[in-house]
Amino acid sequence: MSGAVGAAVVGLGMMGERHARIWRELHAAELVSVYDIVQERAEQVADALGCKAAGSLEEAIGADGVGIVSVCTNDEAHREACVAAAEAGRHVLVEKPLATTLEDCDAIIEACRRAGVKLMTGHVCRFDPHYVKCRDVVLAGEVGEIVQVFARRNNILPSGRRIGPRTSVAYFLGVHDIDLIQWVTGRPITRVCAESVRKVLSDIGADDAIMTVFRLEGGGIGALETCWVIPEGSPNSLDARLEIVGTEGRVAACVGCEGFEQASSERARRPDVVYWTEMHGTAQGALRRQLEHFAECVLEDREPAVSPEDARRAVEVAAAIHRSLETGGPVEIGT
Ligand SMILES: NC(=O)c1ccc[n+]([C@@H]2O[C@H](COP(=O)([O-])OP(=O)(O)OC[C@H]3O[C@@H](n4cnc5c(N)ncnc54)[C@H](O)[C@@H]3O)[C@@H](O)[C@H]2O)c1
Repeated sequence: MSGAVGAAVVGLGMMGERHARIWRELHAAELVSVYDIVQERAEQVADALGCKAAGSLEEAIGADGVGIVSVCTNDEAHREACVAAAEAGRHVLVEKPLATTLEDCDAIIEACRRAGVKLMTGHVCRFDPHYVKCRDVVLAGEVGEIVQVFARRNNILPSGRRIGPRTSVAYFLGVHDIDLIQWVTGRPITRVCAESVRKVLSDIGADDAIMTVFRLEGGGIGALETCWVIPEGSPNSLDARLEIVGTEGRVAACVGCEGFEQASSERARRPDVVYWTEMHGTAQGALRRQLEHFAECVLEDREPAVSPEDARRAVEVAAAIHRSLETGGPVEIGT
C-alpha cells in the first residue's frame, strides 16, 4: 500500500466528528473537508481539525483530493449524500443503517455500482474482536448446527431521548445485531415476529423496546432484545450480548463489560474501551479499525468487509420487524 486517500465527512454530529478525527489521524488517509447543514458546526470541526469547512454538500464532496466520503447524517438522510458522492466518483463509507427504506438502499447501491465506486456500511461490530471470534468459531463448525441465538443491545435513556424522535430502536440499535446474527451464523433471518412497548418515551412517540423472535435459514431460532431506556445510572452505557447455542457447542460475547471499571462515591461505571477510546493521544478501537480497513480497501482495490447486499439485508429485516409490529403477526423474508 502506498500513499493516502483524501476524505470528506458529511454530517458532523457524534459520529461525523469521530470519523473526521480518525481520517485526520490515519496514515492511510487525509482529512480534506467537512460539511453539516448547520454551517457553524462545520466551521467548529474544521477549525479543531485543520481542514476545509465546506458551504455545501457539493463543495465538500468535490474538494480537490477527496477519494472517500463518510456519510454520517441521520439514519433517514443517508441517500442524498451517498448518491451525490457516488455520482462524483467518490468511494462511500456510510454509517449504519445503510438507509431506512429498501428504496433508498437500492438507490445508493445502484449509484455506487454505476459509478464503479466502493460502498461500505459502518457495521462497526464486525471490527470488534468479540464478534469476530464468535464468527470464526461458528464458521469453523465448532458449535455444529445452529439451535438458538440470543442477541441484546440495550442503551441508556439519553440515547433514546436523543435519537428517538428521528428513527426507531430497531433501525438505530437492532440493525447492529441483525447484521451480526446473519454474519456470524452465515444464515439469513427468514421470519420475524415482534412486540414493542412505549412507556418512558411515549411523550416523543418512540418505542422504548422491541423484542423480536426470529427463525434462521436452516431451522435455528432466536430472540433479539433492543432497548434504549435503561437508567442513565447503569454502570454500562451499552449492554450487548450475543450467544449462539449449537448441536456441538456454544459461543458467547459480552460487550460493555470488558474488565475496566471506574467508581466514585456516587456511581460505578464501565466506560467503553472497545469502540472509541483514547490511547497515547489518538483515537483507537473498532471505529478506527473500520475506517482504516475502508481506506486500505480503496488504496489496494480490495472488497470491503461489509458488502452492500449484507447491509441491505439488515435493513430488510428491520423493515420486516416494523411490519410485524403493524400487523401483529409473523413476517416472512425472502431469501
Ligand atoms: N456505528 C455506531 O456505533 C453508531 C453510533 C451512533 C450513531 N451511528 C449512526 O451514525 C449516524 C449519525 O448519528 P449521530 O449519532 O452522529 O447523529 P447526530 O444527530 O449526532 O448527528 C447528525 C448530524 O448530521 C447533520 N445533518 C443532518 N442532515 C444533514 C444533511 N442532509 N446534510 C448534512 N448534514 C446533515 C446534523 O446537523 C447533525 O450534525 C446515524 O446514521 C446513526 O445511526 C452509528
